[in-house]
Amino acid sequence: MTWIPQKTVDGSFTFFSEEFGEAFHSHQGAKSEAFEKFAQVTQLADRALGDRIRLLDVCYGLGYNSAAAIETIWRVNPDCKVELYALEIDASVPIGAITPELLTSWPPEIQTILRELALTQTCHRPNLTAELLIGDGRQTVQTLSAWGFQADAIFFDPFSPRKCPQLWTVEFFKVVSACLDPNGRLATYSRSAAVRSAMMAAGLAIGSITASDSRSNQWSNGTVAAWSGDLLPGLSEMEQDHLETRAGIAYQDPGLVGTAQEILALQNQEQERSQRRSTSSWRRKWGLESNQKSPIYES
Ligand SMILES: C[S@@+](CC[C@H](N)C(=O)[O-])C[C@H]1O[C@@H](n2cnc3c(N)ncnc32)[C@H](O)[C@@H]1O
Repeated sequence: MTWIPQKTVDGSFTFFSEEFGEAFHSHQGAKSEAFEKFAQVTQLADRALGDRIRLLDVCYGLGYNSAAAIETIWRVNPDCKVELYALEIDASVPIGAITPELLTSWPPEIQTILRELALTQTCHRPNLTAELLIGDGRQTVQTLSAWGFQADAIFFDPFSPRKCPQLWTVEFFKVVSACLDPNGRLATYSRSAAVRSAMMAAGLAIGSITASDSRSNQWSNGTVAAWSGDLLPGLSEMEQDHLETRAGIAYQDPGLVGTAQEILALQNQEQERSQRRSTSSWRRKWGLESNQKSPIYES
């Protein structure tokens, strides 16, 4: 597979997937998204004051979330030992991302790590153990969970729920969250009610990632989850109300092998049977204009 780099607003590059009909990152900035929605939200700079950090990168792609995490941690504490597991189905993506044009924006040490991981799927340093597990994340994560791996931070970054529902189901969140340390955090860019309901059904507490840009008309930049909600930024009344609508019916994939079509059809059947309010009435109630819709908005 040949990947053609596309520039985002912050100057960093992303790819576009013909299979999923979607770009790999927000048009606003691939690299800034990795720092703001994943490294910051999982509090890596604070955690780096300790002597080790365990990371799980669900959907490694070009490796930006892993790269931003390692850069953030070592900027604070170069001796902090990083243990990283990354899940990715398509080995051609990380390989496509190690061209000089894409690598140049990262510090030299991070460039070498991205190259090694893409080419050999493993990388070892005194302060780093990293493995890239190639395969369907629904299966590879079960291996990690069986090993008893516990992450301090999970970056949850599949394509959007309508395009890739198989990675946003209750069942997948259950296996992924089995790898979340009691004090760990999981971050995702999605603010979808179906996704949030799936996380809650897996036993997680959730909070909203608020928009860092005050000019932004976005009502949330994503979701942060943990085993306890005590230290999480709460959901607004509007977001809680969103969970009660039909959009809040979670995706399900009982055997963790369903196709996107099967999972969407199952959710659709549930929505049709449901007595819940429609999501359009929720949108009217809270004065959300149609121009606030985005590809990541809907369930
Ligand atoms: C939105 S992109 C991730 C971007 C990435 N985090 C980065 O920083 O570049 C989604 C990624 O999920 C991968 N993917 C799709 N289905 C998958 C599956 N079932 N298991 C694991 N990875 C999958 C795609 O190949 C793609 O690289």
